[in-house]
Amino acid sequence: MKVALLGMGTVGTGVYEIINEEKGNYFANAQDKVSIKKILVRDINKKRNPKFDKNLMTDSFEDIINDDEIETLIFAMGGMEPEFTFMKKAMEKKKHVITANKAVVSEHFDTLLDLANKNNIMFLFEASVGGGIPIITSLKETLKINRIDEIKGILNGTSNYILSKMASEGKNFDDVLKQAQDLGFAEADPSADVDGYDVSRKLAILSSIAFGSHIKDEDIYKRGIRNVSKADMEMFENLGFVLKYLAHSKLVDDYYCASVEPVLLSSKDIMSNVNEEFNIVSIKGNIIGELQFYGKGAGKNATANAVVGDLLYIINNGDKKDELDISRKLSNRGLEEFEGKYYIRVDVGNHDDFKSIIDMIDEVSKIKKMMVEKDKLFVITEELSASTVNLLAEKLEKYGNSIFYARIVGK
Ligand code: NAP
Ligand code: HSE
Repeated sequence: MKVALLGMGTVGTGVYEIINEEKGNYFANAQDKVSIKKILVRDINKKRNPKFDKNLMTDSFEDIINDDEIETLIFAMGGMEPEFTFMKKAMEKKKHVITANKAVVSEHFDTLLDLANKNNIMFLFEASVGGGIPIITSLKETLKINRIDEIKGILNGTSNYILSKMASEGKNFDDVLKQAQDLGFAEADPSADVDGYDVSRKLAILSSIAFGSHIKDEDIYKRGIRNVSKADMEMFENLGFVLKYLAHSKLVDDYYCASVEPVLLSSKDIMSNVNEEFNIVSIKGNIIGELQFYGKGAGKNATANAVVGDLLYIINNGDKKDELDISRKLSNRGLEEFEGKYYIRVDVGNHDDFKSIIDMIDEVSKIKKMMVEKDKLFVITEELSASTVNLLAEKLEKYGNSIFYARIVGK
């Protein structure tokens, strides 16, 4: 099979290396069976490692789409356009499509599935969620027997790297973000990693498959982790908590709730021990019960492994039809299913404001625990709905210089 690689950054490089440097068992014996015929890049004159064959590089998509020998396009570019348009064109020309791009899959899932089915080609996107974890394949397999009504997990390597390094090494947010970028984990615009968009796209893809309904990024409530400080991290350690950026969706009858937010877990929770760029996904089936999947969620080799796994699937099963159906209509009930005690930290600019801030919290919740350190107020509330605490946070932000809050899960 002749393939084209679209993108030669972190992921594209990994794919190239597995196929051309015989890193994988299959490719060691299959040089004549699979070859990369063309590579699309944005800047053909960019300085690259000389081991990459310059003769394969092009900056013209037309070169690829009009090459009848190329049967499969592997997308590792990023962004929404021109990737979405290129994918549609590839499918219309009856070429298989593999992608690592969660932005395109989550937004245009229904269109791309329809187009792939109409043209009898395969559309695979294992690397778009959980890096090297084979979660999409496993979800499809589990669904053959089970109804899945809950998904929970750590789905972003960059933010998990930041939170675990802040907790274990006392580093500050911006320094660790820079490290994650240097390691190739972060998105081109890293705000997607720390403000929740990357996670909500991944949760959207998993929830769409599991619940059989096209759920989009915009249907998922998200709140970022930018405001977490060293003082919070120290407090979590004292209280026996670990902060994680959790993706969570639930299906109840004919509605779903989905959120991406920082949460506090007991230090004994399995998810508390998932560190650095590792991800974990838990799914609940009505027959099998809870299943958990763990592995590297970002980075060159893990992600390329997932992409190349899709390629092998096509080589072995290219004539099969995908049975995914995401046409079910479900209503979105926002945060209705999520409630718990909350940790709230408010930086109180003016000492005279302490009393009014405590009164504001008291109005919506009994304060279970309260600590004051210099100009910082730390509070643990009683059980609150997520929407109540969001309203409270809006009010508090008017008073505090900075605020951070997180739901306490399972303690
Ligand atoms: P990257 O390092 O920024 O590389 C992007 C590549 O795409 C570059 O080679 C770039 O060309 C090329 N490109 C971008 N826009 C293009 C355009 N308009 N026309 C032609 N070529 C274009 O990105 P990455 O980290 O490999 O990520 C690629 C995709 O995989 C993204 O969708 C990302 O979300 C997803 N993903 C990444 C990871 C990870 O750990 N990095 C994990 C899972 C999924 P130049 O080289 O000429 O600039
Ligand atoms: N930026 C993403 C992450 C890449 O850090 O998880 C993997 O999807």
